[in-house]
Amino acid sequence: MGNRWGLGLHFIIVTIIMVATINTCLGARNINSTVACFEHERLALLKFKHSVRDDNGMLSSWVGNDCCRWERVMCDGVTGHVESLYLSRDEDFILVSKELSTSLGELRHLKHLDLSGNAFRGNQIPEFIGSFKQLTYLNLSNADFSGIIPYHIGNLSSGVIENRLIAHDVNWISGLSLLEHLDLSSVNLTGLKILDVVLYMAPSVKVLSLSDCGLLINDSCLLRNLSTTLSNIKHLDLRGGNIFTGKLPHFFQNLTSLQFLDLSFVPLGASSNFANLLSVIPSLVELHLSYCSYLKETHLSHILHNLTTLSNIQYLDLSSNMLTGSIPESLKKLKMLQVLDLSHNDLMGPIPTFHGKLKELYLSGNYLNGSIPESIGRLSGLTALSLDENKLSGTIPVSISIGQLSKLRSLDVSYNSLEGAVSESHLANLLMLEDLNTAYNSKLAFNLSHEWLPPFQLIHIDMSSCKTENGFPQWLRNQRKLQRLVLSNTTISGPLPTWLRKMPIIPVMDLSHNNLSGPLTNLPNGVANVDDEDFIEPVLFLQNNTFSESIPRSLCKRTDLVCLDLSKNRLTGEIPKCFKNLQNLRFLRLSSNGLSGTIPSFIGHLSILGSLNLNDNNFSGELPAELWNLSELLVLDLGDNVFCGKIPEWIGEKIKSLQVFRLHKNNFTGGIPRSLCTHINLQILDVAHNSLTGTIPHCLGELQGMHDSHYGVGINKPIEEGLVQVIKGSSLEYTNTWNYVKNMDLSSNKLVGDIPVELTTLQGLMGLNLSNNHLSGCIPDHIGNMKALNSLDLSGNELGGMIPPSIATLTFLSYLNLSNNKLSGQIPTGNQLQTLIDPSIYAGNKDLCGPPMPKNCSNPDDPTITPNKKYEATHEPNKVWFYMDIMCGSATGFWGVIVVLMLKKQWRNKLFMFAEESMDKIHVAIMVRVNKMRRGRGAI
Ligand SMILES: *[C@@H]1O[C@H](CO)[C@@H](O)[C@H](O)[C@H]1NC(C)=O
Ligand SMILES: *[C@@H]1O[C@H](CO)[C@@H](O)[C@H](O)[C@H]1NC(C)=O
Ligand SMILES: *[C@@H]1O[C@H](CO)[C@@H](O)[C@H](O)[C@H]1NC(C)=O
Ligand SMILES: *[C@@H]1O[C@H](CO)[C@@H](O)[C@H](O)[C@H]1NC(C)=O
Ligand SMILES: *[C@@H]1O[C@H](CO)[C@@H](O)[C@H](O)[C@H]1NC(C)=O
Ligand SMILES: *[C@@H]1O[C@H](CO)[C@@H](O)[C@H](O)[C@H]1NC(C)=O
Repeated sequence: MGNRWGLGLHFIIVTIIMVATINTCLGARNINSTVACFEHERLALLKFKHSVRDDNGMLSSWVGNDCCRWERVMCDGVTGHVESLYLSRDEDFILVSKELSTSLGELRHLKHLDLSGNAFRGNQIPEFIGSFKQLTYLNLSNADFSGIIPYHIGNLSSGVIENRLIAHDVNWISGLSLLEHLDLSSVNLTGLKILDVVLYMAPSVKVLSLSDCGLLINDSCLLRNLSTTLSNIKHLDLRGGNIFTGKLPHFFQNLTSLQFLDLSFVPLGASSNFANLLSVIPSLVELHLSYCSYLKETHLSHILHNLTTLSNIQYLDLSSNMLTGSIPESLKKLKMLQVLDLSHNDLMGPIPTFHGKLKELYLSGNYLNGSIPESIGRLSGLTALSLDENKLSGTIPVSISIGQLSKLRSLDVSYNSLEGAVSESHLANLLMLEDLNTAYNSKLAFNLSHEWLPPFQLIHIDMSSCKTENGFPQWLRNQRKLQRLVLSNTTISGPLPTWLRKMPIIPVMDLSHNNLSGPLTNLPNGVANVDDEDFIEPVLFLQNNTFSESIPRSLCKRTDLVCLDLSKNRLTGEIPKCFKNLQNLRFLRLSSNGLSGTIPSFIGHLSILGSLNLNDNNFSGELPAELWNLSELLVLDLGDNVFCGKIPEWIGEKIKSLQVFRLHKNNFTGGIPRSLCTHINLQILDVAHNSLTGTIPHCLGELQGMHDSHYGVGINKPIEEGLVQVIKGSSLEYTNTWNYVKNMDLSSNKLVGDIPVELTTLQGLMGLNLSNNHLSGCIPDHIGNMKALNSLDLSGNELGGMIPPSIATLTFLSYLNLSNNKLSGQIPTGNQLQTLIDPSIYAGNKDLCGPPMPKNCSNPDDPTITPNKKYEATHEPNKVWFYMDIMCGSATGFWGVIVVLMLKKQWRNKLFMFAEESMDKIHVAIMVRVNKMRRGRGAI
């Protein structure tokens, strides 16, 4: 759904809700009725029941004679007719149907019908709905209905477009004379204008939602005055997916009762025309203007200048607009303001003094500097404060606590440069605190005593890369509601405290990058809190500590885990058998420990595993056939162990999606299986330092993933992933960035035969290492086609003939080793080779001549010179193509940047840091959004 319809709305939403008194009837059950239910209505309900799939038994009480006693059915207490059906999805209850029975049409006295949230995929909105003459409430939202809105509700012409509702005219609305709430969000109204909708609308409509409709929002000639209709609208949602012609149309001035306006994702015309217009709607209480991309580079004060006339405004969202300037003091004129969101703009300067009634303040993702003002402590109603991702410095003012912030639930100051100590007095009055995020303030130190008992119960805490004094935070022991505990890189050392074991299981726990030691037996092991509200992927990160002894069986209780990282510790023993229970694992990393034994056959049970890293341990034995059950594996790293046997042929046949296959430094024997060539996504193939024999399969040239510079999809992983690759003669560890690396390392084996010319078609390959084998023949002439190569090592073979001059066209080559072969003739010159002047590159080839070797080949009769000249002539056109390709390559994005920067060694590290950071940022931004959406539910 990449089009403008797809702004997060995956479901088709049609809500037509009549009569504004919306009872929330989720809890409604049968009531005592004095009369029994009508037989034809009972049969109609049963027929409906049989037309849906009801796995969790939403309709399980629909048995017996008196349908008025069934759950979710309500009858009129006097007449006994079925009056209401509450069939909305709730929690685990969902109805699924491809062919819905029309029997509900029998319920002629229905007043309230709610079918929202169910999965009626492929069904049109049933026509019988039009025959409910007494209907006052109808909710069909998110029920995945498709097709046209039926004739009986409206008067529409036909046309079904993919599972989306479409309406070619809207005069059917005019029949709904009592309508107060009209929600046509995501209905395809392309071709219509907003005033067409308004024209047919009853003046009783107060709530109008037209988001994502493809409507044209402009001024148009009107046949009749709509002043009354417009002036009754209180709530107008035009978020995203509509067509604005630039300016806000003038009829906005006639919306004189408007309280709620959402224009998010609407490209508003530059400058403050719209602010000027909005400023004449003083009734506005809630205004959403986020992602209005055309506000770009507008000075915030210009917009606020006009908006300050909105004296009733309580909720103002201007987030994600690239607004510039500082936060003006004039904001204090908005005396009623309760929620202010200026996050993800380009605002600078200090945080001003805010006044009054503010409940939620979001300033994340700007360039605000200076310290957090003491005055924030006076905002006694504040429940959420987000100051993350700015340039704030100084200490956290104690006023945050000794002030009046006793209602604060969420405090986020992460990604700043705050310093000093966080002491008990900072936190003492935050009675309601649930979310605390201070991550990435590396000079901030938590100095809390062992005895301290916090007055709050945290749900989320993130202190990554802050300092913790006094060892493992003892004050956590009374925090019984934790869902997310992140203490990564917080300088904690010593064993896990024993009280931790009795804590409820914490779904997301990250204790990585510390100096924690001892066994893992004290991990939380109590009964988990169940929190339906939160959508979290359970993870356990303990990497880069000094945990020792064996992996405890108690860990197997964590069957919820999606990611488990125990790498870089001192764990010993085997993988416990009960690991087969961890069937939700997508990521299992046990690298760099002292683990031993074979890969257990039960590994096949972990069938959705995407990444398995067992490298750098003492695992031995052959690869078990059960590995092939792991058909979703993207990364298989078994390097630096003592595995033996052949590389099984099924590796290519069964595991199709592999992107990284690493067997580096083991005792594998036999040949390189041809089936590897079918891994079309393979980007990193490393079987170096084994005892592989035979020839290099020619079909390796078919590895599509190495052909071009497209990156693999990567695991959608919230985590770092270390992958060591020897490129340019030294080991590099790629963390989040391996998706950008394409490398083939077959070095230090016993491979014989030629270098297959097909390899030169791998134009995306950045590193090729075939060194220390017994390869013979020549270096392929077209080696210059491997445009992305920046590391080429063919040393220690028996390669003969001349060095093909095309090698000089490898513009990005910064590491070359051709030593210890039988190469002869003149060393090609020009381009990139000019920079590779270390004679050791060519050492051990006794017949090579010309610079940088001491041996001169100035003798014009030397037979080796002439062919080289010939080469140069024939390869000229290639060179031209090559440069054109590079230019196109860079124009198409990131790849160009990466390759160019790879040239300079010192830049490379920075670049990878950049790539990682930007990914993190994107992740952070998304999380911020998600969190906010969650919080938003509680707003106003
Ligand atoms: C229904 O009637 C029973 C007794 O007949 C009574 O205990 C119960 O509270 C009534 N329920 C409702 C919802 O009125
Ligand atoms: C909306 O409907 C029009 C026809 O009225 C069609 O051309 C257009 O593709 C539809 N848009 C979407 C996103 O379905
Ligand atoms: C808006 O109101 C003005 C008078 O205040 C009226 O002339 C104009 O027609 C109205 N516009 C619409 C679209 O109703
Ligand atoms: C909005 O601001 C502009 C200048 O920025 C001013 O000319 C205009 O009168 C203001 N409109 C209102 C309604 O205050
Ligand atoms: C740990 O924190 C320090 C600053 O205190 C930072 O420089 C380093 O990059 C962090 N390491 C990790 C792995 O996050
Ligand atoms: C391991 O943790 C230490 C802090 O204890 C950190 O400085 C270092 O960068 C981490 N190493 C890796 C590879 O992340």
